[in-house]
Amino acid sequence: MPKGSEIILPSYTWVSCAQVVLLAGHIPVFCDVDIKTMNVRKIDVEVQVSEKTGAVMIVDYAGLPVEIESIAELGFPIIEDAAHAVYSVHNGVPCGALADVAIYSFDAVKNLTVGEGGGITVKNEEVITRVKMLRYCGIGKSGFEAAQSGTKGNTRWWEYNITEPFIKMLPTNIAGAIGLAQLNKIDELQATRKDIWDVYQREFADVGWITTPVEAASGDRHSYFTYCIRVPKRDELAHYLLENEIYTTLRYHPLHMNPLYKQMDKRLPNCEKLNEDALSIPLHPRLTENDVEKIINTIKEFGKKL
Ligand SMILES: Cc1ncc(COP(=O)(O)O)c(C=O)c1O
Repeated sequence: MPKGSEIILPSYTWVSCAQVVLLAGHIPVFCDVDIKTMNVRKIDVEVQVSEKTGAVMIVDYAGLPVEIESIAELGFPIIEDAAHAVYSVHNGVPCGALADVAIYSFDAVKNLTVGEGGGITVKNEEVITRVKMLRYCGIGKSGFEAAQSGTKGNTRWWEYNITEPFIKMLPTNIAGAIGLAQLNKIDELQATRKDIWDVYQREFADVGWITTPVEAASGDRHSYFTYCIRVPKRDELAHYLLENEIYTTLRYHPLHMNPLYKQMDKRLPNCEKLNEDALSIPLHPRLTENDVEKIINTIKEFGKKL
């Protein structure tokens, strides 16, 4: 893909999605999302395609799998931001396995954390080789690994054959150990997330002023990364909850509304609507039953004032 290619991605996502596009020398082109799933659809991408389009980035928002097959029909390479989608499954396949390249986040608030860091899955052998070459300052193998590889005539293992500039993006062994321990209990962590999600769904089902998030389609699995409701008077609700010591946030302030990307005149109605009425309420495995009850009751109390 030539430098300066356009990468189409949803505006309703975390900033790093667009920042990496710019850092790689390309142009982020923002698209809208479906108001119900908060995920990007083929139609959202299609209207942004130009002769400069080089790839599409999809985001499994909150861990709800994107309908990747229909987007793939457009014929562009697909980069999947699976930051929320550890444990998500689409049509029986883990999210991240269907795209050309997928990236997971293992940061502190994610379903599987190593403190800070991430993972990558790639389909193509050439890309795997390149990723392995780049990830340690572009030198490929450490001197120790090179010395051990025992190639005949490799008497100067400290000499590198660097072909591209890159930073150090290796996980530490400590992070690896934490990740393995997290993997051992991921089913348990996910079961807790699902229980909390189900309580919210049940408790808010008959609350007319709250629009609850959609469930995964049959054959798919949600990761329950975040529980994002849509409500009138969203800002007032967020402040009321904060006064009651409940932290909520908007995930995410649409990226096209930031001056850096020079697309502020673009109209993406669903992202802009979400910017006004969406709110992620707490959902993580450390919430107690009392916490969940307090969150639900406080939200319902706020509703009495509407
Ligand atoms: C959709 C999305 N993409 C990417 C990231 C970045 O992940 P990290 O902070 O591990 O780089 C996040 C983090 O919250 C995210 O929500």
